[in-house]
Amino acid sequence: MLLEVRDLHVEFRTRDGVAKAVDGVDCAVDAGETLAVLGESGSGKSVTAQAVMGILDTPPGRITGGEVLFRGRDLLKLKEEERRRVRGAEMAMIFQDALSSLNPVLPVGDQLGEMFVVHRGMSRKAARAKAVELMDRVRIPAARERVGQYPHQFSGGMRQRIMIAMALALEPALIIADEPTTALDVTVQAQVMELLAELRREYRMGLVLITHDLGVVADVADRIAVMYAGRIVETAPVHDLYKAPAHPYTRGLLDSVPRLDLKGRELRAIKGLPPNLTAVPPGCAFHPRCPLARDVCRTDVPPLYEVTGTDAARGSACHFWRECLDG
Ligand SMILES: Nc1ncnc2c1ncn2[C@@H]1O[C@H](COP(=O)(O)OP(=O)(O)OP(=O)(O)O)[C@@H](O)[C@H]1O
Ligand code: SF4
Ligand SMILES: [Mg+2]
Repeated sequence: MLLEVRDLHVEFRTRDGVAKAVDGVDCAVDAGETLAVLGESGSGKSVTAQAVMGILDTPPGRITGGEVLFRGRDLLKLKEEERRRVRGAEMAMIFQDALSSLNPVLPVGDQLGEMFVVHRGMSRKAARAKAVELMDRVRIPAARERVGQYPHQFSGGMRQRIMIAMALALEPALIIADEPTTALDVTVQAQVMELLAELRREYRMGLVLITHDLGVVADVADRIAVMYAGRIVETAPVHDLYKAPAHPYTRGLLDSVPRLDLKGRELRAIKGLPPNLTAVPPGCAFHPRCPLARDVCRTDVPPLYEVTGTDAARGSACHFWRECLDG
């Protein structure tokens, strides 16, 4: 296994108390595989990614437990210096907002080239040639002419391609993309997503794709992990999950997606809001919003049950997953 996260816990100390932003997350990604992490705003997707990458703001955030095994090695046990060597070279991250991630006063070619100068000891000239090559790889037209331009001279979609090129530069084994297309308009979103999927295949990378858009993941992901209030509440191969969700929250998410094949059907959003993480409801955190909730849900935290009776490896943190699966 390329990446295996075990029982990860991250807390934030806030004025209102301790927020358990990540509360016992387990997940895994293999080489050449895409894991989509899905969930509403505030469910802990980015904090999980930051903890895995080793870029969590500490304080206020603090990893309070768990393991992040990368190629069998627990990254949480490494010294910061070793950690830095892993970042970029072995795992890289793509963020939502390319404009604030790129340096506005440095030509994009220099920023791309910097990766090779710093990590590979290349000359500036050789690094610039590499930058052009990378810009070609991510299909930026006229790369040779544009390598000296500044971030603001590129469109949002092209800037996101530059971010992808940066992440790819050292050919890492794993890329974590945190809402990589959210800031783009729909057609550009699809192009950037296709590019990512293609590069992932070509380089046989593991890809973790964080999104709150179910529509985006259907075509590109192998597995999905659905997060709610800092936990993974359902995990399954993408098509199995779409066909028959085994958690009422997933069902709610699926029902709230406009579907072309169900035109005219009323949109059913999930009622209510996700909980404040300093005061998560007892029992199943989803119970105040769950149409299937009953007494046991208000007292007993559901573990991630193994969903049996299907060929796929699936899990659901719902006491009544079977009922949900049966629709
Ligand atoms: N800097 C911070 N200070 C205090 N609490 C924080 C901080 N960053 C995150 N949190 C807590 O962690 C929770 C999870 O945040 P996270 O950014 O991981 O959500 P997310 O799932 O990525 O949401 P979004 O879809 O909006 O990006 C937040 O709800 C908040 O309680
Ligand atoms: S455990 Fe209960 S409240 Fe939680 S999702 Fe299942 S039915 Fe709903
Ligand atoms: Mg986020």
